[in-house]
This record gives sequence, structure tokens and C-alpha cells, in this order.
Amino acid sequence: MIAMPDVISSLDIGREWVEDVFGIADAFGSGAESSMLSGRMISLAFFEPSTRTFASFDVAAKKLGMNTTSIRSSGESSIYKGESLSDTVRMLSSYSDCIVLRHPNDGAAKLASQITDKPVINAGDGKHEHPTQSVIDLYTVRKSFGKVDGLTYAIAGDLRYGRAAHSLIYLLTKFNPSLVYLVSPPQLSLRDDYKAYINYEYEECETISDAADSIDVLYVTRVQKERFPDDSEYERVRNSYVVDLDTAEMLKDNAIIMHPLPRVGEIDRAVDSSGKAKYFEQASYGVAVRMAIFLKVIGGRDG
Ligand code: NCD
Repeated sequence: MIAMPDVISSLDIGREWVEDVFGIADAFGSGAESSMLSGRMISLAFFEPSTRTFASFDVAAKKLGMNTTSIRSSGESSIYKGESLSDTVRMLSSYSDCIVLRHPNDGAAKLASQITDKPVINAGDGKHEHPTQSVIDLYTVRKSFGKVDGLTYAIAGDLRYGRAAHSLIYLLTKFNPSLVYLVSPPQLSLRDDYKAYINYEYEECETISDAADSIDVLYVTRVQKERFPDDSEYERVRNSYVVDLDTAEMLKDNAIIMHPLPRVGEIDRAVDSSGKAKYFEQASYGVAVRMAIFLKVIGGRDG
């Protein structure tokens, strides 16, 4: 097995590691449990709102026989000061075997990993990255197509502030997509420092219809209201695009539509009943994939 102490950025994740995770997640399927990590303790430190990510890490830990302790706090907390984060991480690392951290600051998970020698899993650091989401995303692609390579992807929406999009763009550098469309209004386009890592063919465009007839995987993201420096800028771009049934029908028959969720209007509910809609299935894989990630990260360590 390929070990990796921390999961901070999709750039640090290797293809072999991802394929190991896929294989383990397949074995867990939707309901399996195991006592492989029984007696371990996971700290879930979530300093930003979360539904799926928090719940699926919690369930994944428990299905492996682990206990969890959690901290959830709102934006007013003093944890937002860098020094408090270090103190919190130091404390949590004395209580637990692994820290799963969601934090509003870009780079928070990296900082935490430098403070503790316990593994740190980045569950979202500000507008930067969300690496475990990208593993779930490509697991969903593989479930649908039997492969990740050789497909045409369109990653649409908030490519400026969307951490799920960033991690997916990075994780695809470990595979061989045939083409990736980066679809966004100019105000939400991918920053150059992210583009610098792209090693596959990509094209930037402003609407999904520009690319619709060649897309295999349409990955839609939410415009990240909370990350905008000012509300008026958000108001200008919030309704830049909506995927409705007409959009879904423009796609190839076997194309799939994904979204890390939550959605706030960018995919019309009418699309849910289309066979192309995979976002709820995608969310359901969160538990098995995160069980596999826990095994990879903690499994090889002494208890
Ligand atoms: C994403 C996140 O928090 O970055 N959600 C998730 O974890 N599934 C996407 C989002 O909030 O838009």
C-alpha cells in the first residue's frame, strides 16, 4: 500500500494512492463495516459550515470502529486567529489519532500538519482546496464510465473561489483526461497560479453550450457567496448559469452531471430525475471513500 501521512492538497496525491483508495472503497461498498481501526480517535474540527463532509467523515470513522470528537464553531470564534488554530491543533493532537480540519483560511490544513505529527486531513481550507472531495468525484466518474482517463470534462461555475473545483482540477493532473473545459464567467475564472499546474489539454469558455456536445462529465459548482470580497460583485455573477433540463438534453446520452453540493439554484430540480444526474450518488460515495482514506492514512500507523 502507498502510505501518505497527511491529505492536504490533491497535488500531493499520487495516482496509485487514488487507485488504492478506489479499490478499498469498492470493497466497503455502501454498507460494510470493519473493526480495523477500532479504539482510535478522530478529531473532527470544523470551523465552517458543513453537512455532507462532516457527516460522512463521522460515519466513516464509526464504521471502522473508531470514536470521534468534534468541534464545530461559527465565524465569530477566536479560532479564526492563527495562533488559536495552532493551540487548538496541539490540543486535539494529544487527544486523537488524526485531525480532520475544515477552516476558512487558505493553508490552514498545511499549517496544522506542521504543528502536529498526527495525520491531518484537509476537509476544506478556505477558497483553496478540498482534496477528499476530489477523490470522491473521480470515484463517481469511475463508477459511471469504468475509467477516469480519456474523458472530456467540463468544470463549471466558480473556479476562482471554489475549493472543490480546485482540487478536482489538480487531481486530474494525475490522470489523462482527453480535454477539460473550464467554464465560468470571466470574473470567476481560474487564477493563473492554479493554471500553472495543469498538464492536460484545457480550454476556457463562458457557457456550457459552447462545449455541450463533447462533454462526458459536467461538474457544476456553487458560486461561493461567502468568499466574495463584496456582495455587489456576488450579485452580478450569482445567476451566471443554470443547468436545466434543456442543458442536460444538449449533453451526450451517456454524459453525467455532478456537483459537490450544496446547490443553490445552479442545477434546476427538474434535472434530478434525468438519468444523467449523479450528484446524490456522488454524495453517497462519501462514506466508503472516506473509510478508505482513513485506512490509508491511519491504517499503517501503530495504535
Ligand atoms: C463544498 C465545500 O464545502 O467546499 N461542499 C462539500 O464539501 N461537499 C462545495 C461548496 O460549498 O460549494
